[in-house]
Amino acid sequence: MRSSGGPRPGKRFVVEPAQGRALGGRLRAPGDKSISHRALLVAALSSGRSRIRGLSDGRDVRHTLGAVVALGAGVGTGRGGVTYVDGGRQRLHEPGAAIDVGNSGTGIRLLAGLVATIEGLTVLQGDSSIACRPMDRVAVPLRMMGALVDGRQGGRLPPIVVRGGHLVGIDYALPVPSAQVKSAVLLAGLGAEGVTTVHETVPTRAHTEEMLAAAGADIAVRSVDGGFTVVLRPSVLHATEIAVPADPSQAAFWVVAACITPGSDILLEDVYVGPGRAGFVDVLLRMGAKLELLNRDPVRRTADIRARAGPLAATTIGGPEVASLIDEIPVLAVAAAYATGTTTFSDASELRVKETDRVVTTVELLCALGVGAEPAPDGLVVTGNQGAPVTGATVESHGDHRIAMAAAVAALGASSPVTVNGWDATTTSYPGFEEDLRTCLS
Ligand code: S3P
Repeated sequence: MRSSGGPRPGKRFVVEPAQGRALGGRLRAPGDKSISHRALLVAALSSGRSRIRGLSDGRDVRHTLGAVVALGAGVGTGRGGVTYVDGGRQRLHEPGAAIDVGNSGTGIRLLAGLVATIEGLTVLQGDSSIACRPMDRVAVPLRMMGALVDGRQGGRLPPIVVRGGHLVGIDYALPVPSAQVKSAVLLAGLGAEGVTTVHETVPTRAHTEEMLAAAGADIAVRSVDGGFTVVLRPSVLHATEIAVPADPSQAAFWVVAACITPGSDILLEDVYVGPGRAGFVDVLLRMGAKLELLNRDPVRRTADIRARAGPLAATTIGGPEVASLIDEIPVLAVAAAYATGTTTFSDASELRVKETDRVVTTVELLCALGVGAEPAPDGLVVTGNQGAPVTGATVESHGDHRIAMAAAVAALGASSPVTVNGWDATTTSYPGFEEDLRTCLS
């Protein structure tokens, strides 16, 4: 099984079952990781000083911050923890050394698109998990635009090298529903000659389009047969103020924790619930979860999510909705483990190329806890225990942050403590998880 070379599996976290305690109060999950990466990249391309409030404090985003500095942006921290970025295309240049993206697939793929517009050579590398993740999905369209892209196995695997500059716009239909590929092509298109068009038949998260529009890009999004076509013309971006909302993918851990822990009633504040991100809410509602979206802000596309404990019933997850909840499948599988009936996840073969093969690592986690779970070629099948405790055990994160946190959530309803080996992986996206667990569990 693939394991990450970044967060070394040195640290263990012993999670005690909730046993009579419940989750309560208000909690703000960390700043959204997808938006944070894009905030830094868009700010680096934007003339003037951008200000970013609420940036993710995870290691993935720190690596992207290091990358934009290496490419010539000025970055600092101002009053109240605001990150400021002095950017503009005229500042950006070939980096002096290879750029390390750590464990971040979003970082490496979006950076590939951005550096394709910079004259010179950029080497992008990461940890041992990144070294196994497919890059041909970005190499192919970037080559069509005129960039030279290579890497191990003919450009399929990192490290990848990109020789950028002199791009032309392309008309590109995404072969996989991937916001990372869409974003890489759009970031390259910003600096290309002519129009860049991207078609997606399955909607994916729209942060890049939203943030480019806010920074003044000449971009238009059309709805086509259930999907979208994005048309972008080369654009000069201007600095903006970005307030990063809380990450729905992190809030999902607490939402599921509250659903399965008797007596819980928790409010997750200021969560992004815009296109392509809130699929887990719909799935949990289908399972009978007691969820409410309160204080909706239609401009920021945020809401507070109130989650209360209650019985869950199995459901079937597949089709286009999968793209809107792909990162939440490990924790939704935990919800399925506590539900009545058998839950099926299908059309989710992208799970196999995440930080780990999450079909394998999710099934392994649930089986270790005594839950009936089986892999399928494009997903998994979980047989719920009707709310009965899972078995305490020692489980492995395999260096995957979401597997580690899903394990901690599952542990709350266990009959005895669950030891999570490789807990360090959580620093990738949620360094404060343990502290937040202590705060909301009483
Ligand atoms: C992301 C897109 C998704 C998601 C990843 C973040 C993004 O990946 O799984 O965690 O920020 O664009 P894909 O684009 O590979 O589907």
